[in-house]
Amino acid sequence: MSVLPDPDVLAGLDRWRTLRADQQPAWPDATTLKEVTGELAAQPPLVFAGEADNLRERLAAASRGEAFLLQGGDCAETFDQLTADNIRDKVKTILQMAVILTYGASLPVIKMGRMAGQYAKPRSSDVETRDGVTLPAYRGDIINGFEFTERARVPNPQRLMSAYHNSATTLNLIRAFTSGGFADLRQVHEWNRGFMENPAYAQYDAFASEIDRAIRFMHAAGADFDALRTVDFFSSHEGLLLDYERPLTRIDSRTGLPYDCSAHFLWIGERTRQLDGAHVDYFSRVRNPIGVKLGPSTTAEDAIALMDRLNPDGEAGRLTFITRMGAGKIRDLLPALVEKVTADGRPVVWVCDPMHGNGITSANGYKTRRFTDVIDEVRGFFEVHGSLGTVPGGLHVELTGDDVTEVLGGSEEIDDVALTRRYETLVDPRLNHQQSLEMAFLVAEMLRGH
Ligand code: PEP
Ligand code: CO
Repeated sequence: MSVLPDPDVLAGLDRWRTLRADQQPAWPDATTLKEVTGELAAQPPLVFAGEADNLRERLAAASRGEAFLLQGGDCAETFDQLTADNIRDKVKTILQMAVILTYGASLPVIKMGRMAGQYAKPRSSDVETRDGVTLPAYRGDIINGFEFTERARVPNPQRLMSAYHNSATTLNLIRAFTSGGFADLRQVHEWNRGFMENPAYAQYDAFASEIDRAIRFMHAAGADFDALRTVDFFSSHEGLLLDYERPLTRIDSRTGLPYDCSAHFLWIGERTRQLDGAHVDYFSRVRNPIGVKLGPSTTAEDAIALMDRLNPDGEAGRLTFITRMGAGKIRDLLPALVEKVTADGRPVVWVCDPMHGNGITSANGYKTRRFTDVIDEVRGFFEVHGSLGTVPGGLHVELTGDDVTEVLGGSEEIDDVALTRRYETLVDPRLNHQQSLEMAFLVAEMLRGH
């Protein structure tokens, strides 16, 4: 029998409309928007409530130090880049990293993509000017096109439907790749061996040999590798565009409670986490596990107030704090937050995003990050949790499975000149396949030492 929702719960889902909502597009035409959101509301959900519940339980384990979260993918997915190869290579990179981290942590790794819906971007300015021409800023493929023309840049509500279909296609591929044998532990291990053949990565040899021995031990001991042919892979994106999230929110017939069925996990961005704003209100009302990005201006009081709004009862796994302080600041700023939140007693998962606090512009004008800064922020994250005796619960990274050249450094020593070779991102620079695996080895060492 299905449980009907409380009328107040239903009404609450539209309260955000009365609040300040930052980073929303100026849709040119309310009638079309209404038609499209109506159409979206009639589509099947992309994920199921039970899957989000399952993820919440796993995140609860991560909050206790019994699992580790790996969340990765593009800064912004694009409709153009939705190809089977692209999705496969991103999933493959995350699976390869997860095997290395599992070994380092001796813990299950929760695998989550910034995938199948990461189409809306907050921007520092509403407009962009080039050669005296000013147009609306690019806000992600769910809203407008990247091309610098009036036609492309005017927000187009039809894009909500395209984002839904592209997300469905991406999820279908992810589900096929992770349940059809592609995720087989033995195969993922073989890929990692292939990576290690490059002499540039000699510094990780000892660690890689240990993993190799562990897999051979599992074989010898009769481990059931067939059971390791499939993995759970969760989807996530920034819950930014409320005209998309609202129509995809559905009432779970088992409980009568609302779930945002656009993804398993949604996070609130650094620019939209105002306590009295639309985003915090909206995501306080859905049952999915929720994240909030915390940048360097966050006070301990802000963090506690976010808990009051988003997880008043202290349900384990419900709330994840994704800190993005910057390598130079994390050791100074994180301790006070972690101490106050820990003293409060309500559990959170602490996750490190070492990307968004470390942006720089290269001498030749590329928006980039240094691999060493990224690693240093993760190191600072582990140091702080190590000294406080708290749990470093996961890692949030912008990455791709391709050999792009967007982040400086790594063993292949990408420099300013190399950035010009294959810089493809439309928004933030991503670790490439090799840099991602290097990061996994370095973080695995930190996890082991923890
Ligand atoms: C992002 O994750 O791409 C992003 C915009 O992050 P933040 O909200 O932390 O700036
Ligand atoms: Co980004």
